[in-house]
Amino acid sequence: MATESKKDWILMATARSPTNIAVVKYWGKRDEALILPINDSISVTLDPSHLCTTTTVAVSPNFDRDRMWLNGKEISLSGGRYQRCLREIRSRAGDVEDEKRGICIGKEDWGKLHVHIASYNNFPTAAGLASSAAGFACLVYSLAKLMNVREEQGKLSAIARQGSGSACRSLFGGFVKWEMGKVLKCTKDSAGSDSIAVQLADEQHWNDLVIIIAVVSSRQKETSSTTGMRESVETSPLLHYRSTEVVPKRILQMEEAIRTRDFPSFARLTCADSNQFHAVCLDTSPPIFYMNNTSHRQVPHSFIVTNWFFRIISFMEKWNRFEGTPQVAYTFDAGPNAVLIAPNRKVASLLLQRLLFYFPPSTDTELKSFVLGDQSIVKDAG
Ligand code: ADP
Ligand code: DP6
Ligand code: CO
Repeated sequence: MATESKKDWILMATARSPTNIAVVKYWGKRDEALILPINDSISVTLDPSHLCTTTTVAVSPNFDRDRMWLNGKEISLSGGRYQRCLREIRSRAGDVEDEKRGICIGKEDWGKLHVHIASYNNFPTAAGLASSAAGFACLVYSLAKLMNVREEQGKLSAIARQGSGSACRSLFGGFVKWEMGKVLKCTKDSAGSDSIAVQLADEQHWNDLVIIIAVVSSRQKETSSTTGMRESVETSPLLHYRSTEVVPKRILQMEEAIRTRDFPSFARLTCADSNQFHAVCLDTSPPIFYMNNTSHRQVPHSFIVTNWFFRIISFMEKWNRFEGTPQVAYTFDAGPNAVLIAPNRKVASLLLQRLLFYFPPSTDTELKSFVLGDQSIVKDAG
C-alpha cells in the first residue's frame, strides 16, 4: 500500500534520450496497433548532448489523472500509443521505497496512481529528425525508472516500439538493429515480443565517424511518418519489392560493413537506402515529397527547382565519384533535413568547409545550422 500518512509527496525521475538515424530504413507496418514493421532496419544512435529529448515523470497521490506536456504545451494522452506504453510499464512496475521521506509504493498501487509527464525536445519536433524516436524511448525509459521496472533493455525496446517504431532503436547506443520479428500479425499468444532492438556494436566500435545534421527546416512536415508509411503500404508496388527483395540482403551487407568498419560500403548502402526510401515515397499514391517541401524557387522563363536536397545529393555524389571511392554518406529521413556522415574528423572538417562554401546559410538555401554528432546511449539525467 502507498503510505497514506502524508498526501503531499511527489516522486520524480528524469531521463535523457538521443535520437537515432536509420541507415537502412523502416517504412511500413504489418500490424498498425502493435507497430510491427515489414522489414528489419538499422540505425546509428546520436550523442544526446546534441539532439535529445529530456523527460521528467512524476507521481503523486494528489494527481487526479495522467497528464503530459510536450515542449511546454499540454497534449492529450488519449492516443493509443501513449496508453499502450503507460499500460505496459504499469503492468511491470515494482515496489518503490524512499525510506528518508517515508514513501512506500507497492507494485499493486501503480494502477491507482496518476503520472504527470513533462518532455522537451532540444531539436525540431515532427520535422523528420526522429523526435518520435527520442521522445518515446525517453518516455518509456523514464517511466520504467520511476516505477522500478526491472526489464532488460530489449524488453523495454518492445514497449517503446509501441509508442513509435523507430523509438525501439534509441534504447541502445552505437549501431542498432530492429529485428522485425517472426509473427506476421498480432495474435493472442504473441504481442510482437520478438520485434525488438538489438545492439550490433557499441558507441566505441566506430567512434571515428562524424555525423553532421544540416537543419534546413524546422517546420512540421505535412505528412507524418505514420500516415506516410500507411499510404505507401497501401499503394506502392516498389515498397513490396523493397521489403522482400532488397532490404533482407542490404541488412546483411550493412551488418558486415559496420562489423568491418568498411566506410565505402557503409556509405554506398546508406545513400542507396535513403534514395530508395524516397523513391517509395514518390511511388506512393498520391506521392509524398519529404525532400522538397521547403525550397522551390521560381526563376524567370522557366521553373527551376533550386532544391537544396537535390543539390546536396548531387554535391556529395560528385565528390564521391571524383575520388573514385565514397568519402562521405548522406541520408534523409521523412523530412527535408540532411544527415551527412564522414569517416573521420579530417573529412568532416573538409565537408563542413565545402558545405559552408557551396551552401552558405542564407534564405536561399534555407540552411539554418549544422549539428555535429557522435554516437551515444540513453542516459539517466538525475
Ligand atoms: P519525427 O520525424 O520528428 O519523428 P513523427 O511524425 O514520426 O516525426 O512523430 C512526431 C510525433 O511524435 C509528435 O507529433 C508527437 O506525437 C510525438 N513526439 C515527439 N516528441 C515527443 C516527446 N518528446 N515525447 C513524446 N512524444 C513525442
Ligand atoms: C523514415 O518511427 O516515426 O524515420 O512507427 O509510425 O511512429 P511510427 O513511425 P516512425 O517512422 C520512422 C521512419 C523513418 C525511418 C526510420 O527511422 O527507420
Ligand atoms: Co518519427
